[in-house]
Amino acid sequence: MATTHFGFQTVDEQEKAKHVRSVFDSVAPKYDVMNDLMSAGLHRVWKRYTITLANPQPGQQVLDIAGGTGDLSRAFAQRVGLTGRVVHTDINEAMLREGRNRLLDEGLVLPTMVCDAEKLPFADNSFDIVSVAFGQRNMTHKDQALAEMRRVLKPGGKLLVLEFSRVAKPLEKAYDWYSFNVLPKLGQLVAGDAHSYRYLAESIRMHPGQEELRQLMKSAGFGHVDVHNLSAGVVALHLGIKC
Ligand SMILES: C[S@@+](CC[C@H](N)C(=O)[O-])C[C@H]1O[C@@H](n2cnc3c(N)ncnc32)[C@H](O)[C@@H]1O
Repeated sequence: MATTHFGFQTVDEQEKAKHVRSVFDSVAPKYDVMNDLMSAGLHRVWKRYTITLANPQPGQQVLDIAGGTGDLSRAFAQRVGLTGRVVHTDINEAMLREGRNRLLDEGLVLPTMVCDAEKLPFADNSFDIVSVAFGQRNMTHKDQALAEMRRVLKPGGKLLVLEFSRVAKPLEKAYDWYSFNVLPKLGQLVAGDAHSYRYLAESIRMHPGQEELRQLMKSAGFGHVDVHNLSAGVVALHLGIKC
């Protein structure tokens, strides 16, 4: 039977999605406040940078994968306007519901769909932009998900993968200390769940680094891939062009 990793644990491939689902079912209600606390608000800057690089234009079609509570979807929707379309998707219903409620409170009605990045229910060549922020790390078959993202992009379309990556060497020790000591305690205090935030720290270490992810995207057929390190590599933004 094939195995994979769930944080530092080895699990049956068939089981990983179930473990990931229980993490996001648990953190969904406190997801936004935890994001602000853990990153001291920096996730907003990383997301703003992603939107700037995507450079969405009025009328464009955008797919937000693993969209969760909808930060990128909202920013894209403001840029593509009423003539464009942003589809807000996630595999997890609890996360999507939090996002949809927040978007509705802000007066935005977007198509919201539960869908798995590894089996996207969209026709080939449908979107100008596809984004995935902090979601790729949780996917079981990253190569399959990337191939799907490429398939649904129009030729010349852009894929933006925003994800935790490898921090610069001099910061490694401090970052490890923060990740394995502070994050789980903060998770326990705010969300009543240390385990999910330990998984976050572990899953970051198991995720491909900057160059490895660039190669994965090239192998999935992206003709051009740029890597942008943000906050000394705590996060990297990979921009792939379907060409
Ligand atoms: C850390 S949250 C990111 C949410 C949002 N994009 C953000 O940046 O705030 C990761 C999301 O990835 C989703 N996810 C995990 N595996 C997925 C898959 N195979 N397909 C689609 N979404 C997935 C989870 O349900 C979760 O909502």
